[in-house]
Amino acid sequence: MEAVVMAVAVEFLLLAGAGSLAGDEAREAEAVRALVARLLGPGPAADFSVSVERALAAESGLDTYSLSGGGGARVRVRGSTGVAAAAGLHRYLRDFCGCHVAWSGSQLRLPRPLPAVPEELTEATPNRYRYYQNVCTQSYSFVWWDWARWEREIDWMVLNGINLALAWSGQEAIWQRVYLAMGLTQSEIDEYFTGPAFLAWGRMGNLHTWGGPLPFSWHLKQLYLQHRILDRMRSFGMIPVLPAFAGHVPKAITRVFPQVNVTQLSSWGHFNCSYSCSFLLAPGDPIFSLIGSLFLRELTKEFGTDHIYGADTFNEMQPPSSEPSYLAAATTAVYEAMIAVDPDAVWLLQGWLFQHQPQFWGPTQIKAVLRAVPLGRLLVLDLFAESQPVYSRTASFQGQPFIWCMLHNFGGNHGLFGALEAVNQGPKAARLFPNSTMVGTGMAPEGINQNEVVYALMAELGWRKDPVPDLVAWVTSFADRRYGISHGDAEAAWRLLLRSVYNCSGEACSGHNHSPLVKRPSLQMNTTVWYNRSDVFEAWRLLLTSAPTLAASPIFRYDLLDITRQAIQELVSLYYEKARTAYLNKELVPLLRAGGLLAYELLPALDEVLASDNHFLLGSWLAQARAVAISEAEANFYEQNSRYQLTLWGPVGNILDYANKQLAGLVADYYAPRWQLFMQALGNCLAQGIPFQQRQFDKNVFPLEQAFVLNSKRYPSQPQGNTMDLAKKIFLKYYPQWVAG
Ligand SMILES: *[C@@H]1O[C@H](CO)[C@@H](O)[C@H](O)[C@H]1NC(C)=O
Ligand SMILES: *[C@@H]1O[C@H](CO)[C@@H](O)[C@H](O)[C@H]1NC(C)=O
Ligand SMILES: *[C@@H]1O[C@H](CO)[C@@H](O)[C@H](O)[C@H]1NC(C)=O
Ligand SMILES: *[C@@H]1O[C@H](CO)[C@@H](O)[C@H](O)[C@H]1NC(C)=O
Ligand SMILES: *[C@@H]1O[C@H](CO)[C@@H](O)[C@H](O)[C@H]1NC(C)=O
Ligand SMILES: *[C@@H]1O[C@H](CO)[C@@H](O)[C@H](O)[C@H]1NC(C)=O
Repeated sequence: MEAVVMAVAVEFLLLAGAGSLAGDEAREAEAVRALVARLLGPGPAADFSVSVERALAAESGLDTYSLSGGGGARVRVRGSTGVAAAAGLHRYLRDFCGCHVAWSGSQLRLPRPLPAVPEELTEATPNRYRYYQNVCTQSYSFVWWDWARWEREIDWMVLNGINLALAWSGQEAIWQRVYLAMGLTQSEIDEYFTGPAFLAWGRMGNLHTWGGPLPFSWHLKQLYLQHRILDRMRSFGMIPVLPAFAGHVPKAITRVFPQVNVTQLSSWGHFNCSYSCSFLLAPGDPIFSLIGSLFLRELTKEFGTDHIYGADTFNEMQPPSSEPSYLAAATTAVYEAMIAVDPDAVWLLQGWLFQHQPQFWGPTQIKAVLRAVPLGRLLVLDLFAESQPVYSRTASFQGQPFIWCMLHNFGGNHGLFGALEAVNQGPKAARLFPNSTMVGTGMAPEGINQNEVVYALMAELGWRKDPVPDLVAWVTSFADRRYGISHGDAEAAWRLLLRSVYNCSGEACSGHNHSPLVKRPSLQMNTTVWYNRSDVFEAWRLLLTSAPTLAASPIFRYDLLDITRQAIQELVSLYYEKARTAYLNKELVPLLRAGGLLAYELLPALDEVLASDNHFLLGSWLAQARAVAISEAEANFYEQNSRYQLTLWGPVGNILDYANKQLAGLVADYYAPRWQLFMQALGNCLAQGIPFQQRQFDKNVFPLEQAFVLNSKRYPSQPQGNTMDLAKKIFLKYYPQWVAG
């Protein structure tokens, strides 16, 4: 019986969003043709013929592509949807042409004539859904994007076969309409919304007010963007996920409806109640369905719908009661407000809460939530499945369909990191789990623009039934495609990275960069890593020896910079340990030597090399934020939002350095001064024979951190200097010292 119900649930989902109208095939094919022209240029694009034929997936209903031709004839790409055709095109470019498309750039040197596909190659994905995004990605990475950047990202999504993605821009504009209609004043609404860089947490009820208010022009621009994003996603046959009401409301609701039953939740993320402790509507209150349906009606009137909606009521939020009846009611209320407007609604839920607060979410609590929604109508993201899967301890989410997601990255940090073995094995294991209700794979990083190899693998797994058989061979060909030339040293470098930083396991393994470099200094910093640091240094050496051959490739230069950055990160740990040991042994000269080197030579050298590539510039980061503004005052406001997010996160360093990045300008004016102050403090303590006081140091360093946020210094948004020369200079200076120990 159970199994039958589950099968029905999964069946239902297979149909969700799969409505196919006459004309859609032609429209999707046209969208893919336009993508080919954007990617390859109009000339080469003429060598590809693209069609979309639903019948290709007639049997399984699962996205399918088919490749043929080439070798003098046009390459024929057919897909059951636009997304499937784009995935087929990407497969051809990757496996037949040795090309590569990534965030840092693309390597699209096509062999001529285009390689032949010897016999028609047809491939169906085992996954109904290939999902992308985390609610937080919208803030950590997408917040300041214009349409041009969105367009590139949507191209990246479809090439990687993604057919389900959040489209959450512009929702505050809709909320504003709803709340104004309900009688809230503009100033009450302004006080409620967070600033642009913190919207993700406002949307989940973690925060309110902080970093706000949103300017009027913000809403207009986001509405415009959202329309373009949705049009483009839908043109490929991708399913955009819209937001829905989760139960959090502005405090001012209690002024308009004095009888309303609300609970104030507890605080979040070291914020006090000025910015957190949001109000949650009681599920039984009639206002719940009123707000929920007003919002969804207004939203779908503006944007249309594909019937899948995201909402997170208790993401990192302690529910007011652990009573199963309460949790079920809170869940039912969200769902019923959805189906009141859209009877076909399916609710996409981030499963993060279950693994983030396991002490609260026992089996009874989890079951109460999962079973409150009809089977098949709740689509759960097992968000961190490569590390802490939830499906395996909840009987496959109690029969609700779920998506196996790799989270990988926290805060958009830059450190080299990945658990490629776990990622490679994970989806198949989940599919084979007894009575599995897995319906897809996903990527749910908090931030992007880092560790591209991990995303390349995960995207490939979205279209594979089995793991990649040999990761060593896989990463070798990844290196070849990435640079467009096979080079033994570069390949060897990537194999070393695979077995070290990208084969994360053990306690120290984390998608969060905890390097002392990007943290507020103390004597208690833990420099343990899960890998052999010498592998990183050896990979660095090997990339440098391949530089003369590969230097023309911008992606190679990006990687050389990235590994130089990583090597410096390792060296910071090394010199920090030396300085700490010297301090503990009361040896002033060695302390000054190691501390001086770290703070006055190594960090400035890091800043200088970062400045040589556009992807590592604070100036570009801030310029993007400023470009969204329509006045100088708005530009300054956005810039400050952005600086807060990178550093203090809240007014008093509430989530200090969570979203750390290694950017030129940020290293020179934030991380380096902090380390200089620390080393000076240690030196003074030794010289005067007094103990180092962490609390005093924290007090002294905060003004420095805050000064960076409040500063309006302009940084270059154009690279300066030659990455190769700078990397080599740093290597020659530090590598011998590393090898000497
Ligand atoms: C799978 O479902 C069947 C049919 O309901 C049931 O008999 C079996 O115990 C389930 N297996 C597991 C491991 O839950
Ligand atoms: C919360 O913290 C802010 C910033 O430190 C402070 O200005 C405010 O007074 C605090 N509010 C409460 C309710 O404690
Ligand atoms: C308010 O809602 C809570 C559940 O969140 C419920 O226990 C309580 O009885 C409600 N109070 C009133 C006055 O209805
Ligand atoms: C990754 O580490 C595991 C042990 O944790 C090992 O079995 C595996 O071979 C390693 N993989 C690679 C590619 O080095
Ligand atoms: C440092 O972290 C590692 C891994 O998390 C842990 O095993 C070790 O005990 C920690 N060391 C100290 C001194 O806390
Ligand atoms: C660490 O890596 C270096 C360089 O790749 C290698 O020579 C060494 O044997 C490794 N050490 C261990 C303990 O694996």
